[in-house]
This record gives sequence, C-alpha cells and structure tokens, in this order.
Amino acid sequence: MFNFNYFTPTKVVFGKDTEKTVGQLIKEFGGKKVLIHYGGGSVIRSGLMDKVTKVLDAEGISYVMLGGAVPNPRLGLVYEGIELCKKEGVDFLLAVGGGSAIDSAKAIGYGVTNEGDVWDFYDYKRKATACLPLGVILTLSATGSEMSDSSVITKEEGLVKRGYSSDFSRPKFAIMNPELTMTLPDYQTACGCTDIMMHTMERYFTNGGNMEITDQLAEGLLRTVMNNAKILVKDPKNYDARAEVMWAGSLAHNGLTGCGNDGGDWMAHKLEHELGGLYDVAHGAGLAAVWGSWARYVYKECLPRFKKFAINVMGVEATGTDEEIAIKGIEAMEDFYREIKMPTNLRELGVEATDADLVEMAHKCAVGVGGAMGSAKLLNEEDMLAIFKACK
Ligand code: NZQ
Ligand code: ZN
Repeated sequence: MFNFNYFTPTKVVFGKDTEKTVGQLIKEFGGKKVLIHYGGGSVIRSGLMDKVTKVLDAEGISYVMLGGAVPNPRLGLVYEGIELCKKEGVDFLLAVGGGSAIDSAKAIGYGVTNEGDVWDFYDYKRKATACLPLGVILTLSATGSEMSDSSVITKEEGLVKRGYSSDFSRPKFAIMNPELTMTLPDYQTACGCTDIMMHTMERYFTNGGNMEITDQLAEGLLRTVMNNAKILVKDPKNYDARAEVMWAGSLAHNGLTGCGNDGGDWMAHKLEHELGGLYDVAHGAGLAAVWGSWARYVYKECLPRFKKFAINVMGVEATGTDEEIAIKGIEAMEDFYREIKMPTNLRELGVEATDADLVEMAHKCAVGVGGAMGSAKLLNEEDMLAIFKACK
C-alpha cells in the first residue's frame, strides 16, 4: 500500500432540478461576472441554457457566453475565451455540458490567471500557479472532469492532444441532474460508461501496492456501471440507471478508486488520446477500441490483477490456469463492449489507419509520456506501435 493524498474540494449538488441552484452556488463561491462556456449547442436545444440564464438574471449575476467547445476541445477556442474573459473582467467560469466544455473552461481559467502561453502547461514546459474558479452543470456522465484535476486540449497545429492536471482546476461545485443526460444519443451514453469504467480500470491494473478497500470500491463501481449501462441500452430514460452512472462517473475519476495504488497505468488513455487527436473519435469509443489489444499485450506481467478482475468483476469461474482465467476476463470485457455497441478495434471504430499513421501515433504517444510509461507493463514506443498494430 502506498501513501496517498485525497483532495476532492468540489461541492456536489445531485438530483432532479438541481440546476435551479446555480445562481446561489455562484454567489457562494464569490462569482460576480461569469463566463458561461458550452459546446456545440445541445444545451441550447434541450432548453437547459434558457433555464440557466433565467436563474442568473433573477439572481442579478451578470454573464457573457462562449459556445463552440467541440469534442476533443481545441486550443484556438481557449485563446478566444481567455481574451473574452480579460476584456469583460470575468471572475468565475460556468461550464455547461460534457467533458469538452469543462476541459476547455479549465484551460481558459489557467490562461486568464497565468502569464504567457497556456499551451506551455499542456506541453509540460511549466506549471500553473492558479486557475479561475469554475462551476459545472454536467450533461454527460463520462470524463469525471466535474470533480477531477485534469483537462485535455487539442492543439490544431500537428493535432497534438495533451492533458494537464493540477488541483487549481478542480471545480468549486458540480450540479448533477441525471435527467439532463436523457437527451444524449445512445452512442454517447455508451461512450460515457466506457470512459467511467476505464478511469477505474486504469487505476486497478497496476503492479504497485494495492489496498483492499480501494479494490472493493473499484470492483463494485465497475459492476454497477456495467449493470446500468446494459439497462440504458434498452431503457435510455431510466432515471435510476442514469443516476447510478452519473455518480459513478465522478467517483471513478476524483481519485477515490486509486487511493493506495501506485498512481495507475494510464496507457490505454494515452494511446486513445493519439486516436482522438488524429481522427477526432469519441474518447470512450477510442478507449474501447484499444483496450483489448492493450490488455492482451500486458496481462502476463500483471497476472494477479487480471485474474482478480476476471473473477470479481467479470464473473469468470476460478478454474483453469491464471492465464486462462485472465484471458476469459479480457474476452468478457470485450463482449460487454459489443453488448453496449462499442468498438473493439480500429476498424469497428470507423478508423482506416495506414501503417504511417500508426507509426506517427506511437511516436507522438512516446514523446507525450516522456519515452515510456505504464504500471501493468512499462511500454516504450515499440510496444505502443505493436498495440496499435494489434488493434488495427
Ligand atoms: O457539444 P454539444 O452540442 O454539447 O454536444 C455534445 C457532443 O457532441 C454531446 N452532448 C453532451 N451532453 C449532451 C449531448 N448531447 C445531447 N444531450 C446531452 N445532454 O455529446 C458529445 C460529446 O460531448 P463531450 O463533452 O465531447 O464528451 P465527453 O464528456 O466524453 O468529453 C470528452 C473529452 O474529455 C476528455 C476527452 O479526451 C475528450 O476530449 N477527457 C477529459 C478528462 C478529464 N478532464 O478529467 C478525462 C478523460 O479521460 C478524457 O480524456
Ligand atoms: Zn477518459
């Protein structure tokens, strides 16, 4: 078991109609002039934005708005947001949407409060010393960005997708009304469930120390998300299933399911970030497409964890060799992906990757992680290329 810090300062306001409290919450955290940041317009079409602006008007809170955060949010819009905030004297950010709007808002928050080019943080050149305070109204259960310390931004030039983490960006509050996720396309719901599970699995498949309480929480979370993801395939308006998934999304990425572990593996995420950068695929679908190939490549070096996962999470019978049990667990996970209509390779993801693309992604990935990374198995550029080739 490793020492750990657990820091989750976000005030969670969960349940039906909770978006009505947004004005009080902004005031509670000292916001006077707000930037409302959102994506491509789903929050306008659903009527949510109208409700939010009415609440702010009624509370006498002034605001400016900036939409346009796309999935795999772009640096160009971040620069635009920084300029707008400086010009308008914005002192509080409100992200309304999914991970892309939240991440873009976090990057804007760094840019307003730190001198110089905000990309430096994502390029690992220096560390931020502050971020504007941020609140969230979540419309997609997936990234956990509503409580996490991380944000992921894509630089248009070279299509470089990079994450940056610091506690400064953890949201002050997160409003989570499961009903707000009912307008999601089924594909995005499934992508979200996949991402949530991956945030816990990345922390689970380690060769570092482990804590029994953390394992039990992680395994319970994974079983719960799987059960409810299957319910949502058949019954997308099921409130309780949406609520289970939504809360799991936050717990999966606020640090809870990694306490006492060695920090996790995270290579499936790093490989997916290259896919997202180059082909603009949905993050959760990209994760499902690479996971099986990653798992088969690394499981022998992390056998006790893969065996435990197979038995405790996937319900595999504990008969046969450890390797056989581990492989059955990986196959069962892929069966689950198929059941919720997620891809299990690049072709199913809709990506026709050339060999040159795979080489480029492996190279960018290796550079992005500083040469080699991974806890289940340490992977270098050659390994990354082998995994990309295996999932083609
Ligand atoms: O842009 P709009 O019009 O809002 O539509 C979005 C978008 O097309 C739509 N959507 C969201 N809520 C909806 C809705 N449509 C109908 N009804 C609703 N209630 O869904 C699409 C996807 O939205 P997006 O925000 O891009 O998805 P997600 O939450 O999965 O975020 C993905 C981004 O987050 C990053 C990913 O890499 C990707 O860039 N990640 C961020 C993390 C973090 N900050 O901690 C961790 C993750 O591992 C991940 O890397
Ligand atoms: Zn993720």
